[in-house]
Amino acid sequence: MRPQPGLGASNLTPLEETALLTQYARALDSRWPRPILADPLAADIVDTIDYDFAGLGVPASVVCQTALRAKMLDERVRAFTAKHPDAVVVDLGAGLDSGPFRVRPPATVDWYSVDLPGVSALRRQLLPPSRRAHVVTASVADQSWPNTIPSDRPVMVIADGLFAFLSEPVLIALFRRITTYFPSGELAFNDYGRIGWLTRLAVKLAPQRMFSTVGAQWGFPGFEDPHVPQTWNPSLQLVEEVSLAHAPEVELFPGWIRFATKVSGMFEVSARKARILRYEF
Ligand SMILES: C[S@@+](CC[C@H](N)C(=O)[O-])C[C@H]1O[C@@H](n2cnc3c(N)ncnc32)[C@H](O)[C@@H]1O
Repeated sequence: MRPQPGLGASNLTPLEETALLTQYARALDSRWPRPILADPLAADIVDTIDYDFAGLGVPASVVCQTALRAKMLDERVRAFTAKHPDAVVVDLGAGLDSGPFRVRPPATVDWYSVDLPGVSALRRQLLPPSRRAHVVTASVADQSWPNTIPSDRPVMVIADGLFAFLSEPVLIALFRRITTYFPSGELAFNDYGRIGWLTRLAVKLAPQRMFSTVGAQWGFPGFEDPHVPQTWNPSLQLVEEVSLAHAPEVELFPGWIRFATKVSGMFEVSARKARILRYEF
């Protein structure tokens, strides 16, 4: 597909631009001979956007991580919606992610993709229309973000690559808002353990454009202890903590990344650097 004039990223803020990075990583994965996520729609979408994706300098390790965490979140959404066909799925900071088209939940499930105005506008233009997939233009820092989403159905809330860009007070308020608005459900998201100042500095100084973009926006460092959200909101119960390094898909990672990931999985501190955390309420 050719880039369409006007479908550029010039209207996106630097924070919104991070959506292009993860989308591009999934597009690259889909073109690998042994894809981890295998999301051809990601590649189709990237091909229509007039943007210097190659200039982001996305390394293969980021492609692996991004594809795998999307796959792990997909599996959890699939399981929840199979159990609750009347559910709503809410993807916070959804970017251009084609989750609804990968997961294909029961036809009775409604999927809400929440993001800031620039990304939401692009999403409306680029994602295929679907009666059950809805775009919500809102900042999750604003307490009114869920107001257009049904509040009387079980909910699966996911966030992939969002929380690192929020401040701790915003996250606390967000976790509380989820359980006061929705009657019951789950919250699942990716986490980086606790990113220390040295890693943050390395990210800021790295030569690849993707790292300087992310480094300049960084907010929350992640949870060293996954029980912390329960202290912010006792309605949340931790039900799963799983490291990407322990997923069977690591076998699909290219040579040295596979080796390094397996080694990182042997130590609690490094295994924590890429996790999926899941809570029930
Ligand atoms: C790294 S991208 C991840 C996007 C998507 N989840 C994915 O995996 O491709 C982070 C996303 O969070 C969105 N975002 C950042 N702050 C936000 C906020 N306060 N409210 C809603 N979305 C936000 C950005 O616009 C961007 O789309």
